[in-house]
Amino acid sequence: MTWLDKQIKDLLDTSSKFKSEIQKIENIDPNICNDFEEATPLKLIFFNYTLNIYSSIIHKYIQSKKFFENMFYIDMFAGTGLNRLRSNKDTMIGSPFIAILNHKDKFTKLFFCENNVRYNTTLLKRINALGVKNCEISQEDCNKSVDDVLSKITKVKNSHSFFFIDPYALDFTWESMEKVLNCKCDILFTFMTNSINRARNAAFALPSNKSTVLDNFFGKDSWKSAERDVADIYSENIMSVRPNALIQTVRIDKYYDLMFITKKTKGNNQWMRGLHTAKKEIESNSKEAVKIALDKLKRGQRDLNIYYET
Ligand SMILES: C[S@@+](CC[C@H](N)C(=O)[O-])C[C@H]1O[C@@H](n2cnc3c(N)ncnc32)[C@H](O)[C@@H]1O
Repeated sequence: MTWLDKQIKDLLDTSSKFKSEIQKIENIDPNICNDFEEATPLKLIFFNYTLNIYSSIIHKYIQSKKFFENMFYIDMFAGTGLNRLRSNKDTMIGSPFIAILNHKDKFTKLFFCENNVRYNTTLLKRINALGVKNCEISQEDCNKSVDDVLSKITKVKNSHSFFFIDPYALDFTWESMEKVLNCKCDILFTFMTNSINRARNAAFALPSNKSTVLDNFFGKDSWKSAERDVADIYSENIMSVRPNALIQTVRIDKYYDLMFITKKTKGNNQWMRGLHTAKKEIESNSKEAVKIALDKLKRGQRDLNIYYET
């Protein structure tokens, strides 16, 4: 079984194991979902993979009373908890429920930020329907709520956190990113390469070459080095704040780069080998990987529905 097939199976196993919980979620505000784009399944596969590795390692440390006593999950762009394909009625759980269903008992607390009022209300109702108690949801712009979240998690001693930062475009400011990088955490960041390149080309087309949005996103005008790849520039900015960072970037076809950011360890981050495999497999044929993930997850979800309905 290839890496991708195994990860698709893992995600489908979540859908089958938590079928009744997912049905409850789907019955709440059925029309309120995030749009599920072509590359969403592959993004969620990578998210599920990194969160599984992260949570099992940190949880083992907690159980053996080594280094850490608490772990937190923070979803800065949480969405509604459910994604729907625009063209039909296929749905798939989003990052909040992948984290809650698989890992809620390992995390001391899970924080969600979603600033669309309708989405936020639905997400809250969906979480409450499952009776999950260790969750906190903010309705503010996450660039504002980041201070509150950080003050809560950094107060707890011997803690470690996983941040999933999954914006639509350039919504996460460098000021916020710097604050997160300075906290003890690993980060999975959806770096919206395509949108960022478009914004950069538009700025270059202006006589002034100015863009406040890009300045706010990169923290300075480093984006102006026209010959350089935007993801490389951003990685360099990360290294300037966290010099001991280890960054694994996986390019998802023409859409985005998924950046996993952790800290170099004395043991040479053995578990990062899994991410190298993921990178090799996805990038060797990224277009095909997007399609395989989309088709197989859609088919798998449908088979599960048929299986449970009969
Ligand atoms: C790409 S979607 C998130 C999908 C979700 N992570 C998942 O995997 O299911 C981005 C979400 O962020 C929300 N959002 C956009 N800007 C935001 C901001 N500044 N603060 C908080 N949420 C924001 C949008 O309403 C949208 O639901």
